[in-house]
Amino acid sequence: MPVQNHDVPELALDQVWDKICHFVTEPEWEIFHPIISQIRRLKNETNTVILAHNYQPVEIFWGVADYTGDSLQLAQIAAEQHLPNVLMAGVSFMAETVKIISPTTRVLLPSLDAGCSLAESITAQDVRDMRLEHPNAKVVTYVNTSAEVKAESDICCTSSNAVDVVNSCDSDEIIFIPDRHLASYVQELTDKKIHVWQGQCDVHDVFDVQTMNELRWLHPDIQILVHPECKKEVQNAADFIGSTSALANYIRTNKPERVALITECTMSANVAAECPETQFIQPCSLCPHMRRISLHKILRSLQNGQHEVTVAPEVAVRAKAAIDAMLRV
Ligand code: 13P
Ligand code: SF4
Repeated sequence: MPVQNHDVPELALDQVWDKICHFVTEPEWEIFHPIISQIRRLKNETNTVILAHNYQPVEIFWGVADYTGDSLQLAQIAAEQHLPNVLMAGVSFMAETVKIISPTTRVLLPSLDAGCSLAESITAQDVRDMRLEHPNAKVVTYVNTSAEVKAESDICCTSSNAVDVVNSCDSDEIIFIPDRHLASYVQELTDKKIHVWQGQCDVHDVFDVQTMNELRWLHPDIQILVHPECKKEVQNAADFIGSTSALANYIRTNKPERVALITECTMSANVAAECPETQFIQPCSLCPHMRRISLHKILRSLQNGQHEVTVAPEVAVRAKAAIDAMLRV
């Protein structure tokens, strides 16, 4: 099956090694390649499709993923295809989103510890309280949230469609949850009044403007690409702002000589494997939740059917309405 956003057919094992040899050591590859072979065999035997987020390591991204992408793309794949079995190489909210969109799909998450600091910053009760405070506002919820929080929302969004989603709402006031930095990015690009929940992603919040200045001073020709979960002043120092896939596409299209990808840093290797002419220079911030997923855990998950993701039907119905509203936009 092709890797959808790249249009690359499944690579033979020696081609995988050619792609990732600059990012893993030979001893690591000796461990990885037999596991990759076992995973490929088992996913075919069990008719399971592996969806991998852009933050997954090269051996998963290039070795075993059937589809790769940002949060929106992974959700769209689940919505468009009637997949009987999905394994999510990503975090819990991504697996839950697939389950909500496709209730009959069996969704596996290789580690129950793969959460999200941003998703954990808000509860369903918090959303109900904000609605009481701003009764005329529509609730726009970033997909990096629990199913219960989505269920309290009018519409979901991702980093790649947040502005369009907000502008599509038939209200001049918006409660935007839970990321305050994504909210300020949206506020710059819309006339609507945004009420902000003070959540943040710990991985993106560490980047500061001083680091951006140092990068420009050390490498005057550098292009700085920033995820909108970063602070506003970091966004202001960017040459381009976008979702993980938008950042990757910028590099594929513009082929800059030198870039800094200001986002979770595992992603750089995935793009660098495809764009060897670009030099990647950057500070590193790792997502501890994404790092819970490994080849070993994917193999165990396929062997044992663990961990199957479930969402209470009464929550799923309401959360699905919010996700469907986003997919229509
Ligand atoms: P994207 O939707 O841009 O892939 O972002 C997901 C995420 O978790 C960023 O931290
Ligand atoms: Fe959540 Fe941040 Fe990790 Fe993305 S990078 S999954 S927002 S903790």
